Amino acid sequence: MTVPQPARGRARQDSIYRPGALGIAPLVPTEVTALERRARAAMSRKAWAYIAGGAGSGATMRANREAFDRWRVVPRMLHATSGRDLRTTVLGTDLAAPLLLAPVGAAGLVVDDADLRIAEGAHASGIPYVFSCQGSCPMEETAQAMAGTPFWYQLYWSTDEELVDSMIGRAEAAGARALVVTLDTTMLGWRTEDLDLGSLPFARGEGIAQYTSDPRFMEIVRERLAAGARSAQPLGIDPRKPLQAARAAKGGLATLLSMSRQHPGGVRDNLRSPQPRAAVETFLDIYSNPGLSWEHIATLRERTSLPVVLKGILHEDDARKAFDMGVDAVVVSNHGGRQVDRSIAALDALVRVRAAVGPEPTVLMDSGVRTGADLFVALALGADACLLGRPHVYGLALDGADGVSAVIDNVLGELDLTMGLVGAASIADITRDLLVPAY
Ligand code: GLV
Repeated sequence: MTVPQPARGRARQDSIYRPGALGIAPLVPTEVTALERRARAAMSRKAWAYIAGGAGSGATMRANREAFDRWRVVPRMLHATSGRDLRTTVLGTDLAAPLLLAPVGAAGLVVDDADLRIAEGAHASGIPYVFSCQGSCPMEETAQAMAGTPFWYQLYWSTDEELVDSMIGRAEAAGARALVVTLDTTMLGWRTEDLDLGSLPFARGEGIAQYTSDPRFMEIVRERLAAGARSAQPLGIDPRKPLQAARAAKGGLATLLSMSRQHPGGVRDNLRSPQPRAAVETFLDIYSNPGLSWEHIATLRERTSLPVVLKGILHEDDARKAFDMGVDAVVVSNHGGRQVDRSIAALDALVRVRAAVGPEPTVLMDSGVRTGADLFVALALGADACLLGRPHVYGLALDGADGVSAVIDNVLGELDLTMGLVGAASIADITRDLLVPAY
């Protein structure tokens, strides 16, 4: 027996058509390409490159979207679906709908205190947020901004095991409901848009707030400073090219200022201190571990009482192995197409993973989800819930916390209407037999 909830879809349409009758169009477009276009115009080139960019030629990002195009919904008629219940429970977290906000690093490129604004938007729409390990605000502050709406924490496995424990302990203390370990970014992929701007946000101190707020991390920074560690990296500036050298001097100043702004404490003091730069260099050296293996994952049961979620699974054997090891859930994901170019589409991988592990284990997915109809298709193909990445950052760029909330409400409004039109009164009613392959 499902309890009808307020009709999200109709309410969302009303909230747009009513001001529309007065000539006011929504600030955050409902249509995907318009949302991207407007967000791009509102973002700096570097912010756009980092958030929207993908690996290599972009083939994985395109494949993620094309995979959705290969499925068609077959609506049923005369089903009297007048009320819908979008609620579900995943790993003991009650969800207002099968949607969470994905972790997106360095969102501070888009607005100041980005993670707080995203948390406020998530809270306003009642949707959990998976905090990014590469966040722009310390997790404790972001947790406050969630104001009781559940959140999970994404962990990048550092080469420093004490830092891993410190991050896990902080996430537990802050109230995270699950630990999401990112597997697929032991190194950053070949990000052509960032490379062509020579832009790595972290090198400017963007997206390292979880680290500079961490006692173990700052202990490492101080140890390295005491040991006199200096960057030995050549800058690659050709002295025979004066224009390049002048630009480099200007760029170097901007980077110094950015690092000093991002680092805890006052900008003036930071400008005089070697610590902000040492923190950036330490981060770049230790934030992720290319040696990450199943043995690391096996230690987690001893290290946390939180449900453990492995994010970045694409092969069914990896999914099987994860569940055999006692992992609580997997996220089928190719990191939004940001890691391996020409990778399998996440939706295609979802189908294979679900077939391999059977109906019981908790399987989430992200990468390519843009709309409520996409969410419907992913659920019908076996996802228990999806994570929404770039679109919420586009909403952030356009209207801060309200923009994040608008994007969530648009996606869930469309999901609700799709369910009502197709004949699915609850999430459990969104089944594979409502789809056919698009020939
Ligand atoms: C971090 O998660 C990234 O994709 O850059």
